[in-house]
Amino acid sequence: MFRIMFAVTAAACSVGLAAAGQTAPAGAGRAAPDGAALYAARCADCHGADATGVRGPDLTRLWGAGATDERVFQLIRQGVAGSIMPASTAPDSEIRALVAYLKALGTADGRDPARGSAAPGEATFWRSCGGCHRVGPRGGRLGPDLTRIGVTQSADALRTAIRRASAAIVPGYQSVTLVTTSGAKVRGLRKGEDAFSVQILDTRERLQGYLKAELTSVTRDTQSLMPDYGPDRLSDAALDDLVKYLSMLKGQK
Ligand code: HEC
Ligand code: HEC
Repeated sequence: MFRIMFAVTAAACSVGLAAAGQTAPAGAGRAAPDGAALYAARCADCHGADATGVRGPDLTRLWGAGATDERVFQLIRQGVAGSIMPASTAPDSEIRALVAYLKALGTADGRDPARGSAAPGEATFWRSCGGCHRVGPRGGRLGPDLTRIGVTQSADALRTAIRRASAAIVPGYQSVTLVTTSGAKVRGLRKGEDAFSVQILDTRERLQGYLKAELTSVTRDTQSLMPDYGPDRLSDAALDDLVKYLSMLKGQK
């Protein structure tokens, strides 16, 4: 490990010398600095060899939490005042290599998890999702309010919530099926229950109370009331756009 780091440092020096003596455009024809080696030498002590955090925070979820390349670049350049996170005077090319390294670590496929375009994502949202979800003053009430979803959920968690809604059901949104003594089935979200009655929000957003004496069964559904949006209903590109839009919802009025 030490030997590798030494070699990189030597390479970085020769790049610096070459740069001083030439007028070629920045970056032309030079070996790019190795982000992994720079990370191991300068950041791993505090952020952990795998970047999941030791004395400093986990750096593998920055993009998932909505960070941009520029923001991470500035964090590394300027450090965090009032903390042990140091500022850096390294050349831009080295900081860019660190940013690229962290970005690739944070996403299994090395792509930005919040890739996509917000405008078409917003259009998809109001076409397919707004009937059940609110953003600001608009939308339905069957599903959770998503006005601040970009703060509370990573882009990857949003992908799972959309592709496989039933994989994890948000507390308070358990779907139940009631069967009445006359044989009718009613599906809705369980909003309250005691020994004698159960209250549900039905799929038309009406809060309905049923006496248990009038029901033959109350079953907790394993399926969410929210449909799964598989690739047949929502292409990967449309999902990217939708997640981009949702990632930007941070509670503005
Ligand atoms: C001496 C320990 C230390 C070293 C060395 C260090 N960091 Fe940090 N870093 C921290 C701490 C502590 C924080 C949290 C600061 C705060 O917000 O209070 C932090 C925060 C950060 C953040 C912001 C994280 C967030 O969630 O906002 C980034 C990005 C970061 N460090 C990257 C790096 C990189 C890249 C390096 C190597 C060039 C590095 N750090 C070196 C301790 C360190
Ligand atoms: C028929 C109503 C309905 C539709 C349509 C619907 N959802 Fe949902 N959604 C729900 C309900 C109910 C829940 C809570 C139960 C669960 O977790 O599955 C939920 C949960 C979610 C969550 C998790 C929220 C959290 O707080 O963690 C997200 C994100 C979400 N939906 C996004 C979407 C998106 C994006 C679409 C459109 C592609 C969509 N939903 C369409 C009803 C719906």
